[in-house]
Amino acid sequence: MQNRQVLIDNLPEGKLRESDYKIVSSELPDVKHDEVLIKTISFAITAGTRAGLQGSASYAGAPKTGIVMNSTGVGEVVESSIDDYPIGTKVLTQTGWQEYSLQKPQNLTKLREGIDPSLYLGPLGINGLTAYFGLLEVGQPESGETVMVSAAAGSVGHMVGQIAKIKGCKVVGICGNDDKCSKLKDELNFDAAVNYKDSNFRQNLKEATPDGVDIYFDNTGGMILGSALFRLNTGGRIACCGVVSQYDTNTPEPGPKGIPGLLVNKSIRMQGFLVFDFAEKYEEATDNLVRWIDSGQFQVLTDELDGLEEAPRGFVDLLAGGNIGTRIINVIS
Ligand SMILES: NC(=O)c1ccc[n+]([C@@H]2O[C@H](COP(=O)([O-])OP(=O)(O)OC[C@H]3O[C@@H](n4cnc5c(N)ncnc54)[C@H](OP(=O)(O)O)[C@@H]3O)[C@@H](O)[C@H]2O)c1
Repeated sequence: MQNRQVLIDNLPEGKLRESDYKIVSSELPDVKHDEVLIKTISFAITAGTRAGLQGSASYAGAPKTGIVMNSTGVGEVVESSIDDYPIGTKVLTQTGWQEYSLQKPQNLTKLREGIDPSLYLGPLGINGLTAYFGLLEVGQPESGETVMVSAAAGSVGHMVGQIAKIKGCKVVGICGNDDKCSKLKDELNFDAAVNYKDSNFRQNLKEATPDGVDIYFDNTGGMILGSALFRLNTGGRIACCGVVSQYDTNTPEPGPKGIPGLLVNKSIRMQGFLVFDFAEKYEEATDNLVRWIDSGQFQVLTDELDGLEEAPRGFVDLLAGGNIGTRIINVIS
């Protein structure tokens, strides 16, 4: 049997291009002792994997060509040498951009019964847990506070805003076009949304945050972080989640001005985090996220493309802001 795979063909120089990938077909390897063969159902395209290609994601190691592009996916066991993972078991794992993968049990998470597998690529997966812990554990919101989030219509961002609303906060989103702003306000109940590409961005941000900002959840770094710093209230918190404005380049800009002066003068806490820091609390977070989804308090936005071959285009497009919510590639449609 053949396995279609998307390999990294070139490490990007400047902006990522679809031609940095190539699709190959290879023979499926045999399943050995303590292994399972997973057929990929779907996988997520996420901004952080661009940092992996840049070499700036410590957990991803040095970027390499000739390997399958990495991603978290959901799949089904189709061959197994492990009693605990019989054929048909649905799992979350690092499928990568390919139809089949061999996996060891320590790299598998069984999906809960009766839950749509695609939820494990959004709210119940890495990005949902990132939104949950970054906001609640790092940001520590109190009811009535103002939470501002960048890349707000993206996967992590739209979930941060909704969790903040559930916690009784006022929520302001920052994103890259007016349609996204409308969607955040009209469909996800954000109190305000501001387009950072508008020439009046700084003034609009000021008007959208009349009481200042207590928590800024930073997905972008760069100019948006620089502007956000000036809206922070005394005692404010900045949860540094990612730097997507600086991933799709070989020459990332230095951090914004105003640090540490503004932090000192307003007693602001700025803290980076990795979702893996909170691994021992994933089950508790999953219980809460499932409850919020079931009760209708939390909307899941997905942006789905069909076919493995769509992955390179889908990734280039995501980095240009083409997605709303979690971008998913359905390998089996
Ligand atoms: N710390 C952790 O453990 C952890 C875990 C997962 C993800 N993350 C981080 O979370 C962030 C969001 O990731 P995601 O997977 O949810 O991606 P995403 O937000 O779904 O997609 C990326 C979005 O970034 C925005 N963007 C692209 N270039 C930009 C620029 N130059 N300036 C501002 N915005 C830009 C685009 O939206 P616009 O239309 O708004 O430009 C795009 O839709 C990333 O920084 C990622 O590294 C961190």
